[in-house]
Amino acid sequence: MARLAVNVDHVATVRQARGISEPDPVLAAGIAELAGAEGIICHLREDRRHINDRDLSLLRQTVKTKLNMEMAAVPEMIGIARKVKPDLVTLVPERREELTTEGGLDVKSNPDHYKKGISQLKEKGIHVSLFLDPDPVQIEIGHRIGADIVEIHTGHYSEAKKESEAQKEFDRIAKAVDTAFGLNLGISAGHGLNYVNVKRFQSLPKIEEYSIGHSIVVRAIYAGFERAVREMADLVRDF
Ligand code: PXP
Repeated sequence: MARLAVNVDHVATVRQARGISEPDPVLAAGIAELAGAEGIICHLREDRRHINDRDLSLLRQTVKTKLNMEMAAVPEMIGIARKVKPDLVTLVPERREELTTEGGLDVKSNPDHYKKGISQLKEKGIHVSLFLDPDPVQIEIGHRIGADIVEIHTGHYSEAKKESEAQKEFDRIAKAVDTAFGLNLGISAGHGLNYVNVKRFQSLPKIEEYSIGHSIVVRAIYAGFERAVREMADLVRDF
């Protein structure tokens, strides 16, 4: 039985497009929990392009399940996390020019840097997850430097154009899951998962949690748009 953790960044993205106070990712997080989400995720980026410090602070105060803060392993974010104390931090690579997180962390190239960040977070009782490509070497190093959990990057699988490519990527994920399981790591997965491509994961029960954001916001727009229009049309009809 796996859990769903909902990423509310894209609710904040819509708010930022208008520069006003809604939609509020904090309210969306409450609704997600009411609907069965067992965790809430937000990514505090260096440029604050969607989630901001106010959101993180209010989410910390209101999330009843588990707050997972995604962030880069940089001194500013480590300082914020140590103060705010989310239940979990997921370390992700971050480049200013990217539209979204583009790949897993490269812990192999700089294990000491990540080891230090992990221990600074764990010192404050925060669990640490590393967002890694489905690469057994990265996963083994992640384990060695102290991660509690690995979140396996499913982006290449999700973006595959051909079925053969998707299956190849899925097989890599399955192997990575076995590696992480053998090391006794917690196992999550996410990036680009939607209502169609997530179905294949039924065959990987060792994955404990799915981190999903964009496709849920897309579904909310499609599923809710008709009702929203109807309500406004009803409102103005008799003017
Ligand atoms: N996991 C990580 C580490 C991410 O950076 C993201 C995107 O913010 C997700 C999961 C969720 O991806 P998506 O929004 O495509 O569901």
